Amino acid sequence: MPEHAATSATNSSSTPTTPAPTGRRAVKAVIPAAGLATRFLPATKAVPKELLPVVDRPVLQYIVEEAAAAGIGDVLLITGRGKTSMVDHFDRQPYLEQRLEEKGDAARLAAVRRPAELAEIYTCRQGEPLGLGHAVSYAESHVGDEPFAVLLGDEFGDPADPLLPPMLELQSRTGGIVLAFGEVPWEETKRYGIASVTEAESELTDLGEVVKVTGLVEKPDPADAPSNLAVLGRYILPGHIFDAIRRTGPGSGGEIQLTDAMATLLKEGTPVHAIVYRGTRYDTGMPLGYLQAVVQLACQNDDLGAEFRQWLGEFVGTFAGRST
Ligand code: UTP
Repeated sequence: MPEHAATSATNSSSTPTTPAPTGRRAVKAVIPAAGLATRFLPATKAVPKELLPVVDRPVLQYIVEEAAAAGIGDVLLITGRGKTSMVDHFDRQPYLEQRLEEKGDAARLAAVRRPAELAEIYTCRQGEPLGLGHAVSYAESHVGDEPFAVLLGDEFGDPADPLLPPMLELQSRTGGIVLAFGEVPWEETKRYGIASVTEAESELTDLGEVVKVTGLVEKPDPADAPSNLAVLGRYILPGHIFDAIRRTGPGSGGEIQLTDAMATLLKEGTPVHAIVYRGTRYDTGMPLGYLQAVVQLACQNDDLGAEFRQWLGEFVGTFAGRST
């Protein structure tokens, strides 16, 4: 149990409650970014994976842009040891800005200022990376008992097909937990949180491919997996998740898992729904996904795209007919 959460003044009841839908929409986002990024070592030994560049900006900027585009102007970044440089990216840089102004480089000046204009960024530190649930528990004093969004710091989607707006609307209607799922190959279920689902109430289905969640299990073997619907890195959570995290012991990998805390609330009657997302997701937490994100977004980039696509086509052509 995270010790800091036990002293919180908000939501400290140990009696589980099932919320009635409130109609309140989440207005704050939490980005847990304190993990060790072991799958990307040694690149991420000194550089946080959240700051790896994808074409012209770090991964984390895409994520804060996604929150801002969904109307969320308050972002809490959970950082950890050796990762505080993430915050600097969202700060003003007066000296650099002055130099760009003097050079008359208006486009770069705007690009440098943009991160600081996206949202109010707050930070707190997770002293030890004891799991995603543990990281989220640090948000309690910032969000209180209001619903809030959680955006994992190494995953984002196509801005033209945003996931957060229907998730926020769904949560404000149900008052419960709202998740997003993507279909994964069955042999990969042991890399994800996996759900069992049933049909959603008809009044919710105008928001997309909405399903009702009946169970959640963290990283099951394919033989035990109830489906191939994997939990994506976007969650809208009610404030009473903090109480459930406090009651959650170490789970898969010895970590305090958010999935386990959500499963507790589900068992206790909190409604859990999800939107099945069929758009493009970029998982930059490991080298292959990161490279795919760079190539796809470089191809779409207004400035570089045409030249890059031409080069890429020629480059790929040099592999034609080769087996390795
Ligand atoms: P991951 O499962 O990707 O863990 O966490 P990780 O440590 O970042 O990377 P690997 O698995 O060792 O390669 C998902 C998200 O939760 C955050 C991570 O920073 C990432 O954004 N996280 C995870 C925390 O903030 N704290 C933790 O204790 C664990």
